Amino acid sequence: VWNNVPAGPPDPILGITERFKADKSPLKINLGVGAYRDGSGKPYVLSAVKKAEEIIRASNPDHEYLPITGLPELTNAATVLAYGANSPHVKNGTISVTQSISGTGALRIGAAFLARFWPRGKVIYLPTPSWGNHQAIFQDAGFEVRQYRYLDSKTIGIDFEGLKSDLLGAEPGSIVLLHACAHNPTGVDPTEAQWRQISDLVKENQLYPFFDMAYQGFASGSTDRDAFAVRHFVSEGHQIALAQSFAKNMGLYGERVGAFSLTVADAEEKARIDSQLKIVIRPMYSNPPLHGARIASTILTNPELYAEWETEVKGMADRIINMRERLYDELTHTHKTPGEWGHIKSQIGMFSYTGLTPPQTSALAEKAHIYMTSFGRISMAGLNNSNIDYFAESVSKAVKG
Ligand code: LMR
Repeated sequence: VWNNVPAGPPDPILGITERFKADKSPLKINLGVGAYRDGSGKPYVLSAVKKAEEIIRASNPDHEYLPITGLPELTNAATVLAYGANSPHVKNGTISVTQSISGTGALRIGAAFLARFWPRGKVIYLPTPSWGNHQAIFQDAGFEVRQYRYLDSKTIGIDFEGLKSDLLGAEPGSIVLLHACAHNPTGVDPTEAQWRQISDLVKENQLYPFFDMAYQGFASGSTDRDAFAVRHFVSEGHQIALAQSFAKNMGLYGERVGAFSLTVADAEEKARIDSQLKIVIRPMYSNPPLHGARIASTILTNPELYAEWETEVKGMADRIINMRERLYDELTHTHKTPGEWGHIKSQIGMFSYTGLTPPQTSALAEKAHIYMTSFGRISMAGLNNSNIDYFAESVSKAVKG
């Protein structure tokens, strides 16, 4: 009966984990999915998370349904984290917000809401490249997906002239997807000065900015600094949409906790939009999961845990920065790898866009049991003192051919 169903390709990111798991070599390294690993290559449960779980357990919680838009303590705290406690939108309560099934769910709710209500067509511009799932999320919600230039493949830095000309040439009234910090997959972010220019361009061409902020804290180690772009746009008077995730910065990957929000004009507009967000969400999954929301909200609303969490986020960011330095040294000095590798150090966040080509990445998987996305993105968090020498040596061999 299902003869009409063709086999689809594996997911370009999550499919790598399947291949990694099937590999029996003790040398194997998974640099595919963006999931933090500690210095010994193990998943890392933050101490703030463990303490929050103890607090929750001690409160003898029930397992009732959450409201459609989730746990209010979480959504309130998420807006403070993103927009800042001093944001007039936070103070005046002019943010429509809902809990989401992590960042993907936030994007999907946003896409569904905008497809239904954005008055100026269904066109969204994504950077080239962007996180692989962005295109599918917006296409599945009925958007026409177009591109704007982002990465200069020669310098492996930002193609700012290309970006500016594409945003200026974009169809007025379209939506533009912006990675708030730690751009995935490239690790290349605009400078603050460049963000100011992007804000002006977006305004000039009447584009609607939809920020994806999946890595707040992971880029610089500071949640405030990483929110610069979002807060700058808001302070410039843009109305924005925002997807947030607590997968990476709290290590709550499988708990699926995030938030989708929109800045709005006033309380009356907020009430209308809140009601429609519920109507979008209810037929999708009724209401969101509870446990991760409790953990994140406990951390965000308890000053001691909050401080501990910020230190831990910085610790994770710093370990990654340290691995970038080491990898650069190993590639250039120890192994004299042909090419320029400075981008490994200048890129930020969880990922590095190495410049390795699909033939090189498949050679690394087949010969060295090292897995990464085919276009050469590595999750820096998968590197540690025990595997970085082997990784650098293998990359060097792959580049030398
Ligand atoms: C990634 O890019 O590796 C992460 O965002 C995980 C995912 O769902 O793709």
